[in-house]
Amino acid sequence: MKKIIITGGAGFIGSHVVRRFVNQYPEYQILNLDSLSYAGNLENLKDIEDCQNYSFVKADITDEQQISKIFSEFQPDGIIHLAAESHVDRSITSPLEFVKTNIIGTVNLLHAAKECWKNSFEGKRFHHISTDEVFGALGNEGFFTEETKYDPHSPYSASKASSDHFVRAYSDTYGLPIVITNCSNNYGPNHFPEKLIPLMIHNIINKKPLPVYGDGNYTRDWLYVIDHAIAIDLVFHQGKNQENYNVGGFNEWKNIDLVYLLCNLMDEKLGRKNGESAELITFVKDRPGHDLRYAIDATKINKELGWKPSVTFEEGLDKTVEWYLANKDWLENVTSGAYQKYYQQQYH
Ligand code: NAD
Ligand code: DAU
Repeated sequence: MKKIIITGGAGFIGSHVVRRFVNQYPEYQILNLDSLSYAGNLENLKDIEDCQNYSFVKADITDEQQISKIFSEFQPDGIIHLAAESHVDRSITSPLEFVKTNIIGTVNLLHAAKECWKNSFEGKRFHHISTDEVFGALGNEGFFTEETKYDPHSPYSASKASSDHFVRAYSDTYGLPIVITNCSNNYGPNHFPEKLIPLMIHNIINKKPLPVYGDGNYTRDWLYVIDHAIAIDLVFHQGKNQENYNVGGFNEWKNIDLVYLLCNLMDEKLGRKNGESAELITFVKDRPGHDLRYAIDATKINKELGWKPSVTFEEGLDKTVEWYLANKDWLENVTSGAYQKYYQQQYH
């Protein structure tokens, strides 16, 4: 039996990873460790919360004593580490929060794993979930490969880059068995509506302005979240020790084109006149230090582990919009209260 701690399992990607591991590996014990920040939501896991092989603990990854106690009681064989502050715009207003959670929290987990596994690293693995943003920004051509030099620009990406370096440092210095995955932009069900796609879906439903930063010509490479969860499963089980793997969909979209696509799709689904939602598009002040383009070369994970996206963007976006339309209560719950204050500060 394997015992795995998944950090950040109540968040967007983490909840899909937890669900996959709980359903796919009934013989494992999965412990979801999450502090339930504004981005964490146990509603995301309602369908699996009663499974025998699943449990949840509310804990902060920066709390040394709490984490050490959880590790010594649970005795994990593997850590899949997703807990983080994840939104670039919030990192611009509150950089220290990102230093604390993303850097100190990661080092605290590495330390706890090293202590817990001090007798032997045999059969153990620390899988760190990172982002393509550590590589910086591309011009109009080229891709990020596993060899691309780190060049982060935002406080968020700088904190993730730093956490990646600490993960490698623990491997190089103490021999901790690690793997790192660097993924492109995810989209799909349970995505918190501070990020581009769910924010636009929420605003289209409510006929509110659709805030596009700058001229909208920034490019992102979008991957359906379940395909990321599948990639994490593969790398956790079959990835080579100390290696990093890039994960991405070969699916680049300029923001403005993506927003038009969403508007048209939703006009159709909501029975609105074609072009009605696009009238809500509003160009707003640009994000400071905005990275022009991200694009992942996912050849290594494809060649070595046989991974490739299982859905096309059209299929994934359709499933995503359908999910939000069928889960308006979820959307209402997460956009009341503190979200309103955040939205007001960010967009007015
Ligand atoms: P999210 O913001 O939706 O979820 C983060 C989760 O971490 C939440 O459940 C939150 O409660 C938890 N958390 C935050 N601080 C914590 C703390 N101090 N202790 C314990 N738990 C804490 O994030 P996401 O979009 O699901 O991203 C998950 C991971 O994947 C992050 O590490 C992120 O950097 C990485 N990533 C995200 C994307 C993307 O497109 N969203 C792409 C590549 C990599
Ligand atoms: O590339 C992976 C990263 O993708 C992850 O590591 C991050 O956790 C995740 O948040 C995401 O970062 P981005 O900054 O690319 O995602 P976001 O959804 O915030 O923005 C996508 C693009 O849309 C970006 O160019 C900024 C733009 N944008 C975003 C928002 C929220 C707008 O034009 N308007 C908006 O209101």
